[in-house]
Amino acid sequence: MRSDTRAPGPWSVLFSTLALGLGPLVLGGCDKMRGGSETAKGPGPASEAKGGEAKPDAPGGDTILIGEFGSLTGSEATFGQSTHNGIMLAVDEINQAGGVKGKKLAVKTYDDQGKSQEAGTVVTRLITEDKVVAILGEVASSLSLAGGRVAQQYGIPMISPSSTNPQVTQIGDMIFRVCFIDPYQGFVMAKFTRENLKFGKVAVLYDQAQAYSKGLKDDFIKSFKEMGGEIVSEQAYTGGDQDFSAQLTTIKGTSPEAIFLPGYYTDVGNVALQARKLGVNATLLGGDGWDSAKLTEIGGAAIEGAYYSNHYSHEEQRPEVQAFVKKYQAKFSQVPDGLAALGYDSARLLAEAMGRSPSLGGKDLAAALAATRDFKGVTGVISIDAERNAKKPAVILQVKGGKPTYSATVAPN
Ligand code: PHE
Repeated sequence: MRSDTRAPGPWSVLFSTLALGLGPLVLGGCDKMRGGSETAKGPGPASEAKGGEAKPDAPGGDTILIGEFGSLTGSEATFGQSTHNGIMLAVDEINQAGGVKGKKLAVKTYDDQGKSQEAGTVVTRLITEDKVVAILGEVASSLSLAGGRVAQQYGIPMISPSSTNPQVTQIGDMIFRVCFIDPYQGFVMAKFTRENLKFGKVAVLYDQAQAYSKGLKDDFIKSFKEMGGEIVSEQAYTGGDQDFSAQLTTIKGTSPEAIFLPGYYTDVGNVALQARKLGVNATLLGGDGWDSAKLTEIGGAAIEGAYYSNHYSHEEQRPEVQAFVKKYQAKFSQVPDGLAALGYDSARLLAEAMGRSPSLGGKDLAAALAATRDFKGVTGVISIDAERNAKKPAVILQVKGGKPTYSATVAPN
């Protein structure tokens, strides 16, 4: 798996496919999405979850109130739903173990419907009305940018579980993340494409409305070119578009070996269907934005065989992963995706930092978060660096038989 491609940037990486002793896996029947109480639209509270006898309306009493904002509805709904499940699993466990400093954690969750403006509105509400001490969210980078600006302005620490665009934590000293960033993710996919798949000609089709997609597109192209690859076509769409035939026809004319699609799962599924219909048989490649059981529900056979980078695989044999998968499946009757794992990690890391913080004031808590080192997460060991990011391995998954299947791990060092 190693090759002599010179690693650009600060990463030297190790591809390992042997890290897993893949045993037989039981995956069937676990992909149902959980509906129910979290589907309320608009700025009203989608759910007010609490652990034990905690009273979320009494901050400063026997409860510590955390805010959460996410897309519980809309075309990225599984992002918010999975993240919420992961957060609630963590909070329940923490409360069962006695809470933080003798207080129970409670979570107030708002649905931003996947809309930037709504994200800003609900984060304002969490801070000014609900008086949360910290915020977890968002998944989509554009929404973390919108919500993060508000959190920074009020001096309330925010942890994005999964936003990978570098600009998110550049907002300021209150904004953290527990995942890797897109320059790394783009490099990983470029390297995998060049060295493992041995492709030289790749087309790119990205979502011009999403900071994530635009950034990851640039990062992939930069790395792929540095590795001697050629980008034969660069096309754009706007999230929610239904017709991709013009872009795909242009791409088809350039005969790429692969198409890199750094978008979110609903659009990617639709692009895959239309590509195959138009006779485009190139290998499809993407990033963490593909991480949803809906990807294969929408894309079906069209997405089969495609590869994407992600934050974890439920097939990893690390004890942290297997313990988490077991607990999550018992509670939610579905296989946890990467967002569930990152949501879980973000809540646990926050609670751990709260325990170390002299007070729950924004400055103290931000300092405690910034001092986090070697936190053992499901998605890897998390140390918060000087830019308030985490440096972690990426996993490459392949869609096989309609399921994301572990293919390789790429670790920075
Ligand atoms: N990284 C994506 C973004 O920044 C969000 C995402 C993370 C989606 C993980 C799926 C899985 O927008």
